[in-house]
Amino acid sequence: EDLASTGPVQRYTMFTGVPVQLVTGYAETRELLAHPDVVRSSTEGPHRETVMDDLIASTERHMLNANPPDHTRLRKLVTAAFTRRRIEALEPRIREIATSLLDELDGADGPVDLVNAYSYPLPITVICELIGIPAVRRDDFRRWSSVLVNAAVHTDEEYVEAISLMREFVHELIAQKRLAPTDDLLSGLIAVQEDGDQLSQDELTSMVFLLLAAGHETTVSLISNGVHALLRHPDQLELLRSEPERLPAAVEELLRYDGPLQAAIPYVARASIDVAGRRIDAGDVIVFALLPANRDVRKVERADELDITRSDSAHLAFGHGIHHCLGAPLARLEGRIALELLFERFPRLRLAVPKQDPPRHPSFLMNAIRELPVLL
Ligand code: HEM
Repeated sequence: EDLASTGPVQRYTMFTGVPVQLVTGYAETRELLAHPDVVRSSTEGPHRETVMDDLIASTERHMLNANPPDHTRLRKLVTAAFTRRRIEALEPRIREIATSLLDELDGADGPVDLVNAYSYPLPITVICELIGIPAVRRDDFRRWSSVLVNAAVHTDEEYVEAISLMREFVHELIAQKRLAPTDDLLSGLIAVQEDGDQLSQDELTSMVFLLLAAGHETTVSLISNGVHALLRHPDQLELLRSEPERLPAAVEELLRYDGPLQAAIPYVARASIDVAGRRIDAGDVIVFALLPANRDVRKVERADELDITRSDSAHLAFGHGIHHCLGAPLARLEGRIALELLFERFPRLRLAVPKQDPPRHPSFLMNAIRELPVLL
């Protein structure tokens, strides 16, 4: 609310002390994210002088940090794996994974933490299988990738330790797949590398880092935040139960209402840009605050209300422009299956602590519920 009252583009000082242009309006976010002069600051990565520089250079050379033409090349290599048709083929397997997690929950008589027992293991298992990573390491991934996406709240030592271990594991995995390729995404990328020499080793490692982190942290929150919002709005949940064909629209509304990301990672203006009567100067850092943009009253009526019947629930939870989420079809499918099977299995599901909002991770990027105790 505070942000909405101060205008759609404003100067703001981040908690790190860095001054930025903060964009909170829906139309301004769309306009700027599609603007050719709104770019990532560097595609080169730092020179490798310190351990930290080396880690960053070898794990952050991925499409999310890249500008065209590198961005175009890197994204094209994996686009085919994420088309709607390829993703829909995963549906039976995703249902199987969700069902077996629900089987494990069945019979619990006290409160259960839904994040830990359901929202988290589902997407990590799916993305590990897709890339070709043994699921036995998923707890390690959880620790590592949580440090990766919440770097700001960790010390440099914690960051270096987690990312070094994750890089070591990814390097070993690449070496194994080189010797014994299978039909997974990583083997496919290695084949591309060997054929056309299009991907450097750092780019390949970074791609795995990106897909792993982007591929599950956010989807966990789609499920947890979504279940939480529906349990807090029993009328909406009732409607969804009685008219299950509303599920796809409900997932969109949940992404709008309490989406997984507070902000896109920062962009930079390459030239000065005039927007909403303001000037963004060349070199300014731009932060897109996606949550307020999705509740922009100039775009959505009754923006603070959850309403799964709306026809105007277009949202920016997946970003916009060339970096628009590659995994959106997968995230949507996982969200639908997770909600459908959970509410079907437990018709009396309710919050164990109804009077309190669940704790969220302290993060500038993520909007993630940390724990969601429920009674089945
Ligand atoms: C990019 C959100 C799930 C892979 C993005 C961006 C957003 C986003 C906002 C753009 C960030 C920016 O402009 O800085 C989400 C949300 C998800 C989700 C809310 C879940 C509900 C996934 C999944 C994958 C994935 C399941 C699967 C691998 C990616 C990739 C990019 C991306 C690779 C970078 C695209 C590029 O730079 O061209 N996502 N994401 N995401 N996402 Fe997702």
